[in-house]
Amino acid sequence: MSHRSRSSISATCPRTLLLPGALLAMAAACEPVTSPRTGSGGTQAVHGPGDPLPLLTSLQQRSFKQGNAMFQTTFTPATGLGPLFNARSCAECHEDPVVGGVGDEVETHATAYHGGVCDDLGRIGGPVIQDSVTPALHAVLGIDQEPVPLEATGFGRRTTPSVLGFGLLDAVPESEIVARADPDDRNGDGISGRPNRLPDGRIGRFGRKAQIATLHEFTSGAFINEMGITSPPEPREQTIRDTPLPSGVDPAPDPELGQAGLDATETFMRLLAPPPPTLSSFAELQGRKLFATVGCTGCHVPVLHTGSSPVRALSNTTVFAYTDLLLHDMGPELADICLGQAEPAEFRTEPLMGVQYKEVFLHDGRAPSIEAAIQLHSGEAAGARDRFLALSPLERAALLRFVSGL
Ligand code: HEC
Ligand code: HEC
Repeated sequence: MSHRSRSSISATCPRTLLLPGALLAMAAACEPVTSPRTGSGGTQAVHGPGDPLPLLTSLQQRSFKQGNAMFQTTFTPATGLGPLFNARSCAECHEDPVVGGVGDEVETHATAYHGGVCDDLGRIGGPVIQDSVTPALHAVLGIDQEPVPLEATGFGRRTTPSVLGFGLLDAVPESEIVARADPDDRNGDGISGRPNRLPDGRIGRFGRKAQIATLHEFTSGAFINEMGITSPPEPREQTIRDTPLPSGVDPAPDPELGQAGLDATETFMRLLAPPPPTLSSFAELQGRKLFATVGCTGCHVPVLHTGSSPVRALSNTTVFAYTDLLLHDMGPELADICLGQAEPAEFRTEPLMGVQYKEVFLHDGRAPSIEAAIQLHSGEAAGARDRFLALSPLERAALLRFVSGL
């Protein structure tokens, strides 16, 4: 739940791109407007935050609305919540400034890393530590949260990201991601991204460690891990270590959510448009150039292309996500847990799409500003960080201005 003020985006000039006439009328009152930027919404038509993608059929628009309602559905113990959980609805966390956006919840993940081998502690409740329990479980075991596993060698704090535009990321073909991998840094630029390849050979792209391959799988995973809601792909409750739950603490019959509910939630995220483009000022345009010059685009690749999709709105289009969806070694300061092939110091390039909604930055929110986040870039990103720090104050301000509008 968020009670934050959003002062950082309540500027005097509207940030949403308006129709050309209105844009001209505003230009006088606002800072100099040169040309509308194809922002994180790419070439798609203008929309507001939280809107569906353009070009949807009326059936898809209906599914989007139903999915939005599902994403906001609050679960109770009677409808399956818990017995271990972090929150009662998807939208309790992903909520700001609209349903599907960022949230101020920070959760704890834990895994064990032994000599290059990562154990996600799947046998004993998995990497997500649930910080709440239902009254029924509390009454029997007297606990208030999932006990932290003694086997864990690392803990990671995770802030709640926005999922606006993530259907487009899901639609990017693996070949586009693999094409940018350079694990041995053959081009000598100091950046050696690699995909988080899952045991079945697919490429992970969701989560800070790119540990999950598809929105489809993230959806059922989020229901069980965040709310203790079982579904056909995840039919078993979270347990406390490897012991079965005491009987009677979770009366709702499994699966607590049917396939239709899962599909609706997934469809909502799939069809959510990216954050709308913001107005372009001269400083932002200069900042965009500097973003490339100092090498931020070595990882925060401005545009990815989707493949063909049965959903027209997702098919063969672009997404201005500012990520390569690859893992990069960010140095020992940021290192926390392993997940799959991702080592403790490796993180997926965080998409900057939606960064305009954040008030704290990096995976655990330790950076209070975008500038602080850049200063904490190390490892493969040390070169870009140093080139950023070598810019003049005006140039730095322009770059920050550009990033803060994404
Ligand atoms: C308790 C807060 C919380 C709740 C409830 C929650 N999420 Fe999340 N969500 C998070 C956090 C934290 C992450 C980041 C996980 C990570 O980095 O590995 C995340 C990540 C995601 C991502 C991946 C984003 C990315 O950057 O790749 C998706 C998709 C997602 N959540 C969907 C859902 C859905 C669907 C639901 C409801 C079933 C849900 N979430 C419920 C906190 C929450
Ligand atoms: C070597 C790859 C790489 C380069 C180069 C790089 N970044 Fe990043 N960036 C990342 C990764 C990985 C993360 C996620 C780190 C984390 O969450 O701890 C990240 C996170 C960020 C964040 C925080 C996003 C959020 O939502 O919390 C910002 C802002 C950012 N980068 C801006 C920049 C800028 C500006 C530059 C150029 C000066 C740059 N980055 C260069 C890989 C890179």
